[in-house]
Amino acid sequence: MNTYAPSDLTFERGLGSWLFDDKGYKYLDFASGIAVNSVGHSHPHVVSAIQKQAAKLIHTSNLYNISQQKKLAKRLCDLSFADCVFFSNSGAEANEGAVKVARRYMFEKGKPERNVILCVDGCFHGRTISMLSATSKKENRTGFGPLPGGFRHIAFNDLNSLAEQFAAKDVAAIMIEPVLGEGGAKSISKEFFKKAQELANNNNCLVISDEVQTGIGRLGTLFGYEKTDLKPDIMAIAKGLGGGVPIGAVLASKKVAYAMKPGSHGSTFGGNPLVTASANAVLDIVAEKDFLKILGHKIDYLSKELDKIMNEYPKFVEEVRGQGFLRGLKLFDPVSEIQNELKKNKVLFVAAAENVLRLLPPLTVSIEEIDIAISALRKVACKGIK
Ligand SMILES: Cc1ncc(COP(=O)(O)O)c(C=O)c1O
Repeated sequence: MNTYAPSDLTFERGLGSWLFDDKGYKYLDFASGIAVNSVGHSHPHVVSAIQKQAAKLIHTSNLYNISQQKKLAKRLCDLSFADCVFFSNSGAEANEGAVKVARRYMFEKGKPERNVILCVDGCFHGRTISMLSATSKKENRTGFGPLPGGFRHIAFNDLNSLAEQFAAKDVAAIMIEPVLGEGGAKSISKEFFKKAQELANNNNCLVISDEVQTGIGRLGTLFGYEKTDLKPDIMAIAKGLGGGVPIGAVLASKKVAYAMKPGSHGSTFGGNPLVTASANAVLDIVAEKDFLKILGHKIDYLSKELDKIMNEYPKFVEEVRGQGFLRGLKLFDPVSEIQNELKKNKVLFVAAAENVLRLLPPLTVSIEEIDIAISALRKVACKGIK
């Protein structure tokens, strides 16, 4: 179906931070398949894990034990607040699962009237029918009604709106992205996170961290909530977890996960041997002792370079946004035109809301590759579009 704008690029091969097209050109990939290729393209460790697993066993369904899945679940729990995991196939599905866990928890506690999920204006939680109710952008929803109820939105970074929404006493959970990705690489204030957690505690509500984009090292910590005062009860991850294979996960504390019983949720493909083998290989790399330390240096370097660009070209960049390797440049010129110019310079970026050019390099990118991306930005900034 015609759901994506036509592209003039066809890639045949990828290696590390680079993509190679069918015409023999190579492109530096600062899009990472929209935050998916966390360890770059065709990382040998991931390739080998997929090949070995494919040769042994690809799929069995969740009617049987899956050893790669058990191993991955245990590792994710050891590395986070969580005690239990459910595997899905995408980010939207992980969020669906997260909402189901929150509502079912309230139901089991004898409080089924507490079923509303609070979200933040500007958020993006996916495109399934109920995640469209959670996602705040009207354009995403147009023509798909009637959409399910049970979601309300809090004005961005507005502490009064936050308090008002919790006061209604029908809230099951607040679902929040540690940094708004699709919404324009926008950071939520420290005060907002703190107050959200406080209100959730005081009202016996749950906190869902949507880490589909921010999870698995993207913000410099393994999970984005570690950068905030949030203490999630439930977390959704996907994108970077599989390094390119479709996998998502709902992580939850024992306290809430007990509400889910055999039959209360399921997925045919979710967490199958192939995708969990790939995700285990990604974790071998990202959860390794020095990985996040080295990543931290690269993040600092990129930050300084982006600030320099803004200072050098105040008519090009209005604002530098985001954290870690989820960065955004709010531009004066139309982002699609700048993205196109950068593409001509053989560097790929992604657009986000609010005229933001998003930078999502692989976590394995080198300083030299960051320099290449920065010099392409400088070249385009210099030339100007108008
Ligand atoms: C924060 C967040 N949640 C959910 C989703 C939906 O994920 P998927 O496209 O895998 O369904 C996205 C995708 O961009 C996202 O950024």
